[in-house]
Amino acid sequence: MSAAMLPPFWVLIPAAGVGSRMRADRPKQYLELAGKTILEHSLACFLEHPQLRGLVVSLAGDDPYWPTLACAGDPRIERAAGGRERADSVLGGLQRLTELGAEERDWVLVHDAARPNLARDDLDRLLAELAGDPVGGLLAVPARDTLKRAGADGRVRETVDRAPIWQAYTPQMFRLGQLYRALSDALVAGVAVTDEASAIEWAGLAPRLIEGRADNLKVTRPEDLDWVRRHWARKD
Ligand code: CTP
Ligand code: MG
Repeated sequence: MSAAMLPPFWVLIPAAGVGSRMRADRPKQYLELAGKTILEHSLACFLEHPQLRGLVVSLAGDDPYWPTLACAGDPRIERAAGGRERADSVLGGLQRLTELGAEERDWVLVHDAARPNLARDDLDRLLAELAGDPVGGLLAVPARDTLKRAGADGRVRETVDRAPIWQAYTPQMFRLGQLYRALSDALVAGVAVTDEASAIEWAGLAPRLIEGRADNLKVTRPEDLDWVRRHWARKD
């Protein structure tokens, strides 16, 4: 499908986390990867897309790194205030998108700042598959390993059927108004939401799973960054 046939969309990048599991000297989205920061790589796939309407990055209030990046001067990118939890950062970003002219029914793609290896094919497939969907959905990867349920004693209680289990990736694509209401209602209710889809599920809707590439991984621990560096070195 040609890019012009794909629906227009807005992008929101929550980038206000501290990266505690990475144990680096700065938040992981600002670590270097192939001559740029991880965050700049995470933005790149969207900035090259003709259907992009605008992009918001949610940042911590005291973030000294963002202003040093070349993309901080890009007129298509706006900042929003991040919050204590990821869901707070996403809500702040959705508010900012509304100020920028995004409307209730517009598609918003939320993508982790620490996911630098999103392929254009995956992005386009997500957009194409969900363009006419009443709910929206997310890129996801079917579980590959044999799964075990543990008991409190740390021993295997049972082997779990892997077939219906997926790992939730990003981008996650929902309508602005629906996502905003689901997230804010979930927060008011005290429900812990770790991704956008779980807020939509909590609201009683069923997001669609769109199979994506497993190498669109989130950099969480030091070995993940080592893996992406090696993966890119092999690709070149
Ligand atoms: N995030 C955010 N605001 C928060 C927490 C997280 O915008 N209050 C963002 C992160 O910057 C990241 C994405 O949400 O882009 C996914 O979160 P995660 O991988 O958990 O990142 P961190 O919270 O930074 O890492 P950790 O949990 O290891 O501290
Ligand atoms: Mg976190």
